[in-house]
Amino acid sequence: MAVRPIITYPDPILRRTCAPIDDPTADDVQQLARDLADTMYDAPGVGLAAPQIGVNRCIVVTDTAWRDEGAARDLHVWINPEIIWHNDELKPFEEGCLSIPDTFHEVSRPTAIKLRWIDLQGDSHEAGYEGLMATALQHEFDHLQGRLFIDLLKPMKQRLVKRRLKKRAGWKR
Ligand code: NI
Repeated sequence: MAVRPIITYPDPILRRTCAPIDDPTADDVQQLARDLADTMYDAPGVGLAAPQIGVNRCIVVTDTAWRDEGAARDLHVWINPEIIWHNDELKPFEEGCLSIPDTFHEVSRPTAIKLRWIDLQGDSHEAGYEGLMATALQHEFDHLQGRLFIDLLKPMKQRLVKRRLKKRAGWKR
């Protein structure tokens, strides 16, 4: 069990583009996946991307079911994920992020996506998702590009929210 500290906004680690993983079966990648899962369940959260624990590599874990009453854990590990299609229907959803504590805002994203990724055995997959899973995956994959959900707010609101967060974090500007 290795729960790692969660990096919070406006730490520049969250803004870097992550490097793809060459060998998903490597020990350090297996360990990273375990640490991500342990940290996500401990938080608790439904998704966590590697930069959130300070590692700029393309890997995300999600479990959108486990907090439901009586539900078992349903851990998914997504390595080098790519969204290869999305629909044109945008729907607002109130999002939050473990790296931006106590902050919830509605943002609009496509309601259906198709993606390609690699698993911990090195096998590649393609599948479509909609609803909460589509929202959660888009949010997490944005982290791998250095993007945060608050970047999707309208400009004026975005400025206000970011200024408030930086002030709270003790940043001068
Ligand atoms: Ni997040």
